[in-house]
Amino acid sequence: MSTEAQAGASPLPFTAEVERATRAIYERVRGVIPEVEWPVHAPLIAAINELKRQRNAVILAHNYQTPEIFYGVADYRGDSLGLAQEGARVDADVIVLCGVRFMAETAKIMSPQKTVLLPDFEAGCSLAASITGADVRRLKARYPGVPVVCYVNAYADVRAEADICCTSANAVKVVESLGTDRVIFIPDGYLGRYVASKTNVEVILWEGACEVHERFTPQEIREYRRQQPGVHVMAHPECPPEVLREADFVGSTSGMIRHIADARPRQVVLITECSMSDNVAVEFPDVSFVRPCNLCPHMKRITLPNILRSLQTLTPAIEVDPEVARRARRSMERMLAVGRSAVAA
Ligand code: 13P
Ligand code: SF4
Repeated sequence: MSTEAQAGASPLPFTAEVERATRAIYERVRGVIPEVEWPVHAPLIAAINELKRQRNAVILAHNYQTPEIFYGVADYRGDSLGLAQEGARVDADVIVLCGVRFMAETAKIMSPQKTVLLPDFEAGCSLAASITGADVRRLKARYPGVPVVCYVNAYADVRAEADICCTSANAVKVVESLGTDRVIFIPDGYLGRYVASKTNVEVILWEGACEVHERFTPQEIREYRRQQPGVHVMAHPECPPEVLREADFVGSTSGMIRHIADARPRQVVLITECSMSDNVAVEFPDVSFVRPCNLCPHMKRITLPNILRSLQTLTPAIEVDPEVARRARRSMERMLAVGRSAVAA
């Protein structure tokens, strides 16, 4: 198959060769991707996997990517912490980040010598957009000596101003690792409140919010419980506190997956982005998923056609100013030294 084909211009043909090359992938995802869609996805998947080999590229995909990306072309799948760890140790010339821009910046910060591609440069994040480096400098001037903990859902110049980064998988552990009475926590106000509820450290908040998780309500969780008695409710800590109070488990995306593997609930509702349930359902066919749906418009900008185009053209490539990257890397490395919490957040 020619990998030079213009994805999106005319559909790539679903040949017998493509069908054979992608059959095992389809068998895995058939529960979440209708058979009529496979002739559209399969030629793109085959072309991407071929070009990936030619370019010595690896594809890192966040848990919110659609199943055809997640299971079709990704070499590594995970939460923000897992993608950061993998970005630091990956052995390849090119990294394609299937996620959003702050995640691609993480890969570039951790591996500056590599080409890091984000298939759609506009894949942003409401949390990352809520704060600038100048905002952090003002906070530091207002609270001198108080360390700044930065959730990685922030751009490189913001992370460069922080003392240490965290993800939802290790936020409490990171805050407690500092050994101080107070921390400034940016940019997610809800995650900051959740951390404050789990520690004696005083948390000074920045009121950024995830546009996906802030929309969930406690009323809708009560309604799921009414409709499906016994359903196990798992929520991401980017949700408002009144939503988290209704949940049986709170954790990062990968924390939720590990919890399902351990607890094996019969029926689950994941209070998070839509694609999570599809991806997790593939791994746990015996668990049934009630699917509330809040889409992340930024995550959904990444598609098979733009991944193929990105590998063909080696654009858009992420650049981070070397001095900003050096300072942001220090905050990231401090976080990686702390690691993941035993129980998610
Ligand atoms: P985690 O996968 O780290 O839990 O992050 C969730 C999220 O919203 C990332 O954008
Ligand atoms: Fe940002 Fe929320 Fe989308 Fe994650 S789900 S990228 S936090 S807007």
